[in-house]
Amino acid sequence: MSELVICFNNKDPYPWKKALQDALPKSTIHVWENGQHYEQACMALCWLPNEDILNTMPNLQLLQSVGAGVDFLFKLDLGEHPPRIARVVDNSLSQDMFEFLLGLLLSNMKRLGYYQMQQGKKQWSPQSYRRIEQTKITIVGLGQIGSYIATKLHQLGFQVSGYAQTKKNLVGIHCFDAAEGFDASVHQADYVVNVLPLTDATQGFYNKERFTAFKSSSIFINIGRGGHVVDKDLIEALDIRQVSEAYLDVFHQEPLASTHPFWTHPKVHITPHIAGVTSTEATVKQIVANFLAIQGGKALVNEVSVKKGY
Ligand code: GLV
Repeated sequence: MSELVICFNNKDPYPWKKALQDALPKSTIHVWENGQHYEQACMALCWLPNEDILNTMPNLQLLQSVGAGVDFLFKLDLGEHPPRIARVVDNSLSQDMFEFLLGLLLSNMKRLGYYQMQQGKKQWSPQSYRRIEQTKITIVGLGQIGSYIATKLHQLGFQVSGYAQTKKNLVGIHCFDAAEGFDASVHQADYVVNVLPLTDATQGFYNKERFTAFKSSSIFINIGRGGHVVDKDLIEALDIRQVSEAYLDVFHQEPLASTHPFWTHPKVHITPHIAGVTSTEATVKQIVANFLAIQGGKALVNEVSVKKGY
């Protein structure tokens, strides 16, 4: 039982197979194929895996996410004796997400998308713009990535608040918790940025009621998971100007179906789940460590609580 199976959808498995094979020359690394069985597999490395992978690996001990999120692993039928679950922690991923967010914020604050449209119409139309020091941002979700992003934005001079279920302490950032309430954390924010983990408790978090707490000129940015949002409630909030624009990088179903109303909504900006993509070089070591640990009965790196779901 010393084989590893790569189970990816929407992601190229072959660079990972090569990196793992180079690091583990004596082990067998498979790329999962429908109809195959992997009796010897102790670990599956996953990104949006097919629903039935567990039936094809009867001796599996570890489901390893290749991303920071593990939500898609909890959608599998884990059974009575679930395998253990781990994720990757990649500081370059937090930095990538911060850079993506910063690009998006500055482009919006300085109206760059608007000028691109105006250029198409040969229109010279200067607009007012927002400055960093005047801009209030609330980061919803203060785990590893959220805390990193909040701190970086604060260091640049933005006015940053944060929201997390439990109390967090971050220098220079007003951290709200469930007792102080989500509504209080967002009601002054120009930008509300979602980086919550997706669990049963946070599924559909952004619903009609929560959007009501936003100030009406606010902009919603989702770089967490699509499952956090009730899509029809967001569309309604945009239509009634409860939220002024939405930048969405993640969706319930990816790729986003061509029939989804987000594609053509004038206040929605779509990117294809690109805010942060785990780098092979940065994470292959922790994946290899877990492959060896699971066989040697040792502690895992970045293990996730199967009970809590993150
Ligand atoms: C990206 O979405 C990740 O979970 O790493």
